[in-house]
Amino acid sequence: MHITLRQLEIFEAVARHLSYSRAAEALHLTQPAVSMQLRQIEGQVGVPLLEQIGKTLYLTDAGRTVLRGARETLGAVERLAIAVADLKGLRRGRLSVAVTTTAEYFMPRLLGEFSARHPGIEFTLEVTNRAGLLARLGDNADDVYVAGQPPQGVPVACKPLAPNRLLVVARPDHPLARAGRVPLARIATEPFLAREPGSGTRAAAERFLAERGITLSYRMELGSNEAVKQGVLGGLGLAVLAETSVAIELAAGALVPLAVTGFPIARTWYLIQRADKTPSLLAQAFVEFLLAGVAVAPTDGVLAPLALGETGMRAVSGRRRATPSARSPKPRRSRRAEHL
Ligand code: PGA
Repeated sequence: MHITLRQLEIFEAVARHLSYSRAAEALHLTQPAVSMQLRQIEGQVGVPLLEQIGKTLYLTDAGRTVLRGARETLGAVERLAIAVADLKGLRRGRLSVAVTTTAEYFMPRLLGEFSARHPGIEFTLEVTNRAGLLARLGDNADDVYVAGQPPQGVPVACKPLAPNRLLVVARPDHPLARAGRVPLARIATEPFLAREPGSGTRAAAERFLAERGITLSYRMELGSNEAVKQGVLGGLGLAVLAETSVAIELAAGALVPLAVTGFPIARTWYLIQRADKTPSLLAQAFVEFLLAGVAVAPTDGVLAPLALGETGMRAVSGRRRATPSARSPKPRRSRRAEHL
């Protein structure tokens, strides 16, 4: 059957009015045009849909059946049009974001800010280590990814989002905390707590140290930033951690960054999307939102993703309270523009 949506509309109007002339008037068509379309539909269906007795038009049984189908179809098309309009206006939709564990300290807040602007949107936020994130990227499981290093082997569109610094952290009562500058070779003799294999933080630290001929001795492996941090707080050893993951403890003075030569390791968080995937309107809007730098919600200024402020994100409220050795030269305003 080849019946167009327009023909279904015409038939529905005739069936509703039980009059060719009133249907023609409602649809701004001529009566002969309406009659002709009706004949074509009946030709396609193969049986009469209307019968005229005297001056009155009646629907046949087949006409009633076709009318039901026509209304269902036209209703579905209307719902589709509304859904598409909603998507375009970002009133509805789903966004799946996956981040490595060090980004979990700021991404929920950015999602919160985006969600406040688009309340009808549903989100999922997957937090995993680098190995897990690469697996998800390979499976095309999400719309947007944030990680500390662009992946290899998968075609991706990748934009720098913010600086991401790795520090050697210790308890303030650790002897090296009072030692001033600590030569890199010195930390090789200290017990370290390591993240699990598959962690990008661990890999980045090991790569950085290996290039300088240093291998750390690990006292134990712990499966999350939190566990490593609690281990350092518990006096189990030193650790290399992302600054964002210890911001509260640094601000409170519960942990201190050691002034180890070469540290902090300057990394970058990247916004990553598969290059072979057409981004949804929502994913595009989210990426633009992040890059436009309007997203950081005001907080107490301690846990705020302060690094985001440096890429042009709206300034966070409160003050940054890192110790001098954790501070890097003030980034130039044009930094983000250079990256992009
Ligand atoms: P991870 O994250 O240590 O949780 O893997 C860091 C990164 O993105 O490299």
